[in-house]
Amino acid sequence: MTDTPQTHAGRVAVVTGGGSGIGRAIAEALATAGALVAVLDANGNAAEETAGALAGAGHKAMAVTCDVARWEDMEAAAHEVTAGLGVADILVNNAGISPKHTGKPAPTLEMDPAEWAHVLAVNLTGAFHGVRAFGPGMAARGWGSIVNQSSVSAKRHLDFVGVHYPASKAGLIGLTKQLAGELGPSNINVNALAPGRIETPLMRGVDPAVNEAARQDTPMRRLGQPQDVAAAALYLTSEAGHFVTGQVLDVAGGWMIS
Ligand SMILES: NC(=O)c1ccc[n+]([C@@H]2O[C@H](COP(=O)([O-])OP(=O)(O)OC[C@H]3O[C@@H](n4cnc5c(N)ncnc54)[C@H](O)[C@@H]3O)[C@@H](O)[C@H]2O)c1
Repeated sequence: MTDTPQTHAGRVAVVTGGGSGIGRAIAEALATAGALVAVLDANGNAAEETAGALAGAGHKAMAVTCDVARWEDMEAAAHEVTAGLGVADILVNNAGISPKHTGKPAPTLEMDPAEWAHVLAVNLTGAFHGVRAFGPGMAARGWGSIVNQSSVSAKRHLDFVGVHYPASKAGLIGLTKQLAGELGPSNINVNALAPGRIETPLMRGVDPAVNEAARQDTPMRRLGQPQDVAAAALYLTSEAGHFVTGQVLDVAGGWMIS
């Protein structure tokens, strides 16, 4: 069916925010490499569409409507995935939001505290919920792999994101390092990806000049594609990448090299 090496054959993988953009590309890459994929998304139709496309290509996949910010949703999703595909081996905490108001972030000094709380709940607490729900099965099995979707914006000021976004993405780096230490003895690796500007619906919410400026400021002189990030996720969740843990891997064409 495919020439892609079956590096993930039989693995059960969970991808949050798998209904669109980078998450969808990660779900496709994992399935193509042999994984059974659960696509979790707050947008149930988007989750169904991704899972349907995977199934149509001959892969085993399922869709679960799940708001990662809600613990009860994540707990229910874990039961559904275990019943449908088996105990998860791989978790990609990818779901994330970056609210804009007519293309611009809210200035911090005017930001609605409810917006701050919502972004932290989705982008950061959502990842904790994923680990809390799917981690115990990995620990019991003695193999697991977790990838958290951070961002290069965690490192430096950018005028096109609100303060909640980099704060949540920096929080994911702390979560990643702490968890890598804590879960290493259970043979679970935990890493973060830090994408640069990747062409998805999320980054199209700003003035196109913002994205053009990022492109020019990127040594490789292009914006990223979801598949660029998916390839990195594939490596980190493979057996070949399993000894890599506690790391933050930029996938940014050299933008904001650090
Ligand atoms: N696109 C970029 O330039 C870029 C750069 C760095 C990091 N990222 C990160 O990559 C991840 C994916 O971004 P994308 O560009 O593919 O965005 P996207 O908007 O295309 O996709 C995000 C998906 O997450 C889902 N989602 C949103 N809130 C959710 C929730 N509460 N529970 C479950 N699902 C939810 C959406 O329905 C959507 O399907 C995000 O964490 C984002 O912060 C993106």
